[in-house]
Amino acid sequence: MAGLFDEIKINKMILRNRSVRSATWTGMARKDGTCSPKLIKLTEKLARGEVGLIITGFTYVMPNGQALPGQLGIHNNAMTPNLRKLTKAVHAAKGKICMQIVHAGVQTGVKDRGTLPVWGPSAVHDKLYGWTPKPVTQKEIKETVEAFAGAAARAKRAGFDAVQLHGAHGFLISQFLSPARNRRTDKYGGPIENRARFLFEVFRAVRKAVGKDFPVLIKLNTQDFVRGGFHERDALFVAKRLDKMGIDAIEMSGGVPAAGDLSPARTKIRKTSDEAYFLSIAKKIKKQVSVPIILVGGVRSLQAISQILEKGDADLVSMARPLIREPGLVRRWRKGDKEKAKCISCNQCFGAAMSPQGVYCVVERRLKKRKKK
Ligand SMILES: Cc1cc2nc3c(=O)[nH]c(=O)nc-3n(C[C@H](O)[C@H](O)[C@H](O)COP(=O)(O)O)c2cc1C
Repeated sequence: MAGLFDEIKINKMILRNRSVRSATWTGMARKDGTCSPKLIKLTEKLARGEVGLIITGFTYVMPNGQALPGQLGIHNNAMTPNLRKLTKAVHAAKGKICMQIVHAGVQTGVKDRGTLPVWGPSAVHDKLYGWTPKPVTQKEIKETVEAFAGAAARAKRAGFDAVQLHGAHGFLISQFLSPARNRRTDKYGGPIENRARFLFEVFRAVRKAVGKDFPVLIKLNTQDFVRGGFHERDALFVAKRLDKMGIDAIEMSGGVPAAGDLSPARTKIRKTSDEAYFLSIAKKIKKQVSVPIILVGGVRSLQAISQILEKGDADLVSMARPLIREPGLVRRWRKGDKEKAKCISCNQCFGAAMSPQGVYCVVERRLKKRKKK
């Protein structure tokens, strides 16, 4: 029976406990995608807070794959010196760090694009982002697969302990997986075997670039929660196939920005029964694969975590918003203060990440200001 504070080995990587900081875009990278001292400081704090594995915010593998301002890039070698400072700082604090790599596809909020095209599997208009993407050619698919592999190799050279493919939340890999976005009639569209081909090609290329001993993880949706989107059956197919292909861990998430209340970061998590909102599908998938499962989405209390881990419904638990409010949450729990996370899941941190100073907990800052008065 596993507990939160038990070690776990993922490929050759040993984690001090089973907590994961789920990928969090902070808005703190510089305009050119390089890592900033501020981002290093924040990440170091998480390592000192005893998070088992810190996953960076999504990091773009190609310039036209950038989703948001202040996002990290790993699209060329100029990115690596500052990232090396980041990994060194985390390792000095006895932490482990994984880079999440992404191509945004149509979900890009970067309006000032010059000649950069907006790509997608098919020309399906995205109401939220306002683009109709240019369907990628097979040559462009190959270019993107190579960009993921190049990015993973750079991350390894920069001292990261693992990489995570962002296969969830409606970004390019997830767009290919979704029948609502992918209307292709070539070998990349149609049945799930075809819709998953792009992802499998990315995984194979990344694996080849980093070698068999380097952990390669994926964040995958349990389902998209939009009409005609990626479904539970598809998720099971993809998870089983990746398990066979040698993925090292699967982080189960769900939703896309267009899913409204059923988006990846849900609000109104008030009771223990509101927590871990992807658990029911994730545990079904867990039963059918041998690879470790990381569960994300509304995990807030040691009570819920203990139940999940003790029952073996997942092998690790992942949190994003609670660690924005309390980077030292895991250490607090280990030291015996078992109160649940202070995060109220209001999602104001998204707006904060858009501000020039980058992500912070709006509620916490308001409370501190009030106390000072
Ligand atoms: C400010 C912010 C930035 C996020 N950035 C990313 C990201 O870069 N990649 C990703 O996969 N998910 C991202 N997420 C989603 C989280 O990783 C996580 O899946 C979601 O917030 C649910 O977990 P939670 O309830 O513990 O916050 C972000 C969430 C927030 C609040």
